[in-house]
Amino acid sequence: MNPLHTAELADKVKAKETVHLLDIRQEADIQDWAIGAENVIRYDIPFAEIKANPAKARNQLPKNDPVYVMCYKGKSAQTAVSLLEAAGMEEVVHVVGGMQAWGETMSPRKIGDLTYGGAIYQFMRIGKGCLSYMIVSNGEAAIVDPARFTEVYTSFANENGWQIKHVLDTHLHADHLSGGRKLAEETGAAYWFPTRDGKEAAFAFSPLEDGIRIPFGQQEEGMRCIASPGHTEGSISFVVDDTYLLSGDILFTESIGRPDLAGQAEQWVQDLHTTLYEKYPLLSLDLIVLPSHFSELSEIGPDGTVQARMEDLYRKNPRLQLQDAGEFIASVLGSIPAQQPNSYQLIRESNQGKETIAGSEEADVESGPNRCAVNS
Ligand SMILES: [Fe+2]
Repeated sequence: MNPLHTAELADKVKAKETVHLLDIRQEADIQDWAIGAENVIRYDIPFAEIKANPAKARNQLPKNDPVYVMCYKGKSAQTAVSLLEAAGMEEVVHVVGGMQAWGETMSPRKIGDLTYGGAIYQFMRIGKGCLSYMIVSNGEAAIVDPARFTEVYTSFANENGWQIKHVLDTHLHADHLSGGRKLAEETGAAYWFPTRDGKEAAFAFSPLEDGIRIPFGQQEEGMRCIASPGHTEGSISFVVDDTYLLSGDILFTESIGRPDLAGQAEQWVQDLHTTLYEKYPLLSLDLIVLPSHFSELSEIGPDGTVQARMEDLYRKNPRLQLQDAGEFIASVLGSIPAQQPNSYQLIRESNQGKETIAGSEEADVESGPNRCAVNS
């Protein structure tokens, strides 16, 4: 059996294939961040225990199915595989690159076509639950909320002969390092950033504000910007082709964005109510909502994408059933997860250009799930 690459693991997870995963990291780290899905049967046995008694560990694992061993960076899992093989296990391999590689695995999938030609693609960074988008029209591409692995976008655009003209961040991210500025610099594209989130930004940007349209390809309207504060002060949503709503971290398929990542929860939760109950309802209920994050792997649909119709969300998303502002605010403030995204302050500083993180440290800084949603 060959070692398992995280892209293959991602395909298995999306295809709802049963996967037996032996996670050998320390218990606290597994609690912080692990792969949790209905089709992933996880066996949490710390490396030290396997080393001390491989035969005992072997007896806790399935006999007739392949077992994939997950560690931090793919090193100790290789030793664990050797120990388990010496103890008589046959179908056991390590996951290449471990959780670090899992957190960096990303691939595009087409969401749909645009009316006047072109298409929209969703890039899923499955391990962190981050979603970014490429919208293409007439050979021009716009990228929304890019991850720091800019080559994934540039090679996809190059392979298809598209030129990246616009790079946009829906808000000041707290869970991951934005690839926005880097991608814009590499491609000569305009870098768009919300004015109200960029008050302290140490870089120049094209300001994203309510009501502006970003001319784009053959789309007459371009991308329409809608101020949608609540997760951050400056959060912007984009309507594309009157068909798609890129909702950033305001509205997710199962929950909504948390309002507390800058210590202003009481104020921002009111904005969140206004956005969700006064502003979004003015848009079409037929819009397909494309968020920038998901929390659970179960949010991935059978086609391998995360998306939902606005109408369905207003019927089913529990956070959209609280019309009364007082009730909504109390409920949201009472459901804010205790933990923030790991290193969220440093990530916010970096995304404002106020702090530089060495390339070798980026993965550690970003380690962990996104934690951008209110508990559902
Ligand atoms: Fe966010």
